[in-house]
Amino acid sequence: MSEDLKREAARMALSQVQPGMRIGLGTGSTAWHFVDLLGQMVAGGFDCLCVPTSERTAEQARSLGIPLTDLEQVHQLDLTVDGADEIDPQLNLIKGAGGALLREKIVAAASDAMIVIADASKVVERLGRFPLPVEVNRFGLGASMRALDAVLERHQAEGQTRLRRAADGSPYLTDGGHLIVDAFFGRISAPEALSRDLLDIAGVVQHGLFLNMCKTAYVATPDGVRTMQRGN
Ligand code: A5P
Repeated sequence: MSEDLKREAARMALSQVQPGMRIGLGTGSTAWHFVDLLGQMVAGGFDCLCVPTSERTAEQARSLGIPLTDLEQVHQLDLTVDGADEIDPQLNLIKGAGGALLREKIVAAASDAMIVIADASKVVERLGRFPLPVEVNRFGLGASMRALDAVLERHQAEGQTRLRRAADGSPYLTDGGHLIVDAFFGRISAPEALSRDLLDIAGVVQHGLFLNMCKTAYVATPDGVRTMQRGN
């Protein structure tokens, strides 16, 4: 059922794609459906050029014959379609459960528009129930975690930080070779201030708060796909 809903949201995003577009391809189980559907169109002769946000998505896109490029060759994209872990009413997001937040944010920032696709379980009144992924450099991890703990305290987090681990127990590494610390806030009352505080930590590479980046979200419910729009 949930896979069907994700696919319906992906289908809505596909309706926004025009021939010749340069498209950012998101990461995760919902973005997978978008890439799969786009692959079917490409197999039928549809023209587009895409930038993947992870090695996983690149592999899927290559297997479907979707033409790929990178932001060295193409500096600006028309559209990025990606999933999210949380979506608030202003269309601010938490992303990064799949570990691709850095490339996802770089690609979204280089896009004229970002469309988020999700099922209704991702919509929240306030961000923070989902642990916020923070990508950190491997160097100085102890110092970075200490600084992160101080930020959590300042923002009255209900939980703590936890270094993300792979299935074999070793530290999880992103495509860029960094670590991820998941930060359990419970509720994030001041996302802009939190974003600044996190980026002020020298060892922080990026975090999973996507603020003022997404203008449209297609949210699939059992009764159909709901469109959420952010006002300017
Ligand atoms: C990947 O790093 C994430 O940002 C995903 O886009 C996000 O976790 C949503 O994934 P699902 O579509 O699998 O829920």
